[in-house]
Amino acid sequence: MTDAPISYAGPERVLSGVQCSGALHLGNYLGALVKFARLQHEKQTFIFVADLHAITVWQEPEKLASQTREIVAAYLAAGLDPMKAAIFAQSSVREHAELAWIFNCVARLGWLDRMTQFKEKSGQHKERSSVGLYTYPVLQAADILVYKATHVPVGEDQKQHLELTRDIAAKFNNDFKAPGFFPLPEPLTQGPGARVMSLRDGSAKMSKSDPSDNSRINLLDDADAIASKIRKAKTDPEPLSETLEDLKTRPEADNLVGIYAALSGLSKEQVLAEFGGKGFGTFKPALADLAVSVMGPIGDRMRGFLDDPGEIDAVLAKGAADARNVAAPVLDETKKLVGFWRA
Ligand code: TRP
Repeated sequence: MTDAPISYAGPERVLSGVQCSGALHLGNYLGALVKFARLQHEKQTFIFVADLHAITVWQEPEKLASQTREIVAAYLAAGLDPMKAAIFAQSSVREHAELAWIFNCVARLGWLDRMTQFKEKSGQHKERSSVGLYTYPVLQAADILVYKATHVPVGEDQKQHLELTRDIAAKFNNDFKAPGFFPLPEPLTQGPGARVMSLRDGSAKMSKSDPSDNSRINLLDDADAIASKIRKAKTDPEPLSETLEDLKTRPEADNLVGIYAALSGLSKEQVLAEFGGKGFGTFKPALADLAVSVMGPIGDRMRGFLDDPGEIDAVLAKGAADARNVAAPVLDETKKLVGFWRA
């Protein structure tokens, strides 16, 4: 056998997930959900609710299942189709956790010590964080590789976890003399809504953990809330830039133009061609109308699904079965490679 890496020759698969640890917002919709719905038409697609990841920080047990259903309602409202994509809860496919254990023994402490998200989330008292928060990226690698996924739509902030996934895949393939067994998955970070920023601070990502509700448009906000948050969005006193170059130094204006572009399907240049030189007194109402017309129906569809939890549960049951059909044989092969008795 040669030492040259043999590249992965299996089918192309897309996998991604969202944590059920708070209400979803416009940033999740444009940056993730819309992309998932598009990709399901292009490749075999697996989209899950990351409930195992959610409990790396405390979650109220009586809320966990309803938060999971809410994410599924958002997936369905954004156009994910259970006949096209496997839509499931991470905790209902036990292969994720089992592969994560094996990967805990492949990944090195030094690799995890470099993870910036752990440093941010654990804050000043890392000794009080759960061990799960530390090994979070190892579970993420298992989520991806248990389906041999090749493409992972994620935000920029997840790129480091994708690099770790590749390192784990490469080390596993090498250690167990199985060249090309796991693919080295690619992050898909591009897209018009790739980075939606806070409405109160153009330098911070729109986030469910921001204490100010006015910083984000939640998917379940009604038309009045959407319009009022856009009216109150932070801006500067200048009229809108005429060029993209000029926009670069104005993060809040840039963000609103980016949101308009993503919601309308136009490029930022096209948005500036229409609104450049005009004041926010003109631009904000136009953006509010657009946001209400696109996001209002998404919220309505979500509420419709949430009124029928039985249907959501049926989607999750089908998705878990579809996912296990792919994950179980991959885990079996992995266990054979490791050398477990009767694997
Ligand atoms: N860590 C991801 C986030 O916070 C969520 C996630 C968990 C994920 N497992 C994944 C994303 C696997 C992509 C692939 O956004």
